[in-house]
Amino acid sequence: MDFEEFKRRVLVSFRLDLNSYKETQLKRRLDGYLTRQKIKSYSELFQQLTSDRRAYQTFLDHLTINVTEFFRDPHRWLELEKKILPEILQSRGIIKVWSAACSIGAEPYSLAIMLNELSPARIHRLDATDIDKTILDTAIVGEYGQDAVRNVSKERLVKYFTVQGNGYLINENIKKKVSFKRHDLLADNYGNGYDLIVCRNVTIYFTREAQDKINKGFSQSLNPGGFLFIGGSEMIFNYQDMDMEKVYPCFYRKKK
Ligand SMILES: C[S@@+](CC[C@H](N)C(=O)[O-])C[C@H]1O[C@@H](n2cnc3c(N)ncnc32)[C@H](O)[C@@H]1O
Repeated sequence: MDFEEFKRRVLVSFRLDLNSYKETQLKRRLDGYLTRQKIKSYSELFQQLTSDRRAYQTFLDHLTINVTEFFRDPHRWLELEKKILPEILQSRGIIKVWSAACSIGAEPYSLAIMLNELSPARIHRLDATDIDKTILDTAIVGEYGQDAVRNVSKERLVKYFTVQGNGYLINENIKKKVSFKRHDLLADNYGNGYDLIVCRNVTIYFTREAQDKINKGFSQSLNPGGFLFIGGSEMIFNYQDMDMEKVYPCFYRKKK
């Protein structure tokens, strides 16, 4: 079985669209996985994935890069706090937010902390999704090491976390504001009525075609005037074709 055949079979059996991931990076990670697991061929790997559900999960964990932290790119989060969220909150009482490809939860919990401070009396809807089920289980536990909280102020650390050994556990009142669910950006339907979609540091791994499809999907999921917040190293060149306008670096607004 060659690489192309392996991708075809994985798509049919698992609905995982490896063709939408940039090929060089994908092959590098796949080859690393084969070496680490002492697997000799793609057919042996496919055989393993189909015979053992846990093997598929381990494979997916290896393939996806889960690096994340609270308030990643602090300058952008400050813009979100000072300009974007106040504007959204002014036009709508209760807002609907989606943290797509949320990894272990630092991103949606950062959003929950900000919303808690900007509008403590309101209960907003905060959806957080990722393709990787194991990662979501970790997010629900909500325990983080020093690196993940390096951009969290002392005040926020005290207010929203409990020290646990060498790490920090997010408090229950923040945890309960976020609903976690498995969702594949390349295969599953997108919801609608969102005022803010945060999707950062994942589409860089996808082909340009897949990126366009995802960004179009986000635009359709946003309310008129709603915002898309992307990663610090990312850019949407054809945002106008998607009915969006660029407002600040990393922020796009769906046209009203
Ligand atoms: C580098 S992390 C980004 C986490 C967070 N958004 C941030 O910027 O800190 C990338 C995440 O994308 C997820 N991912 C990869 N492919 C995906 C897909 N097709 N659909 C949804 N999530 C995916 C991975 O499981 C991983 O948790």
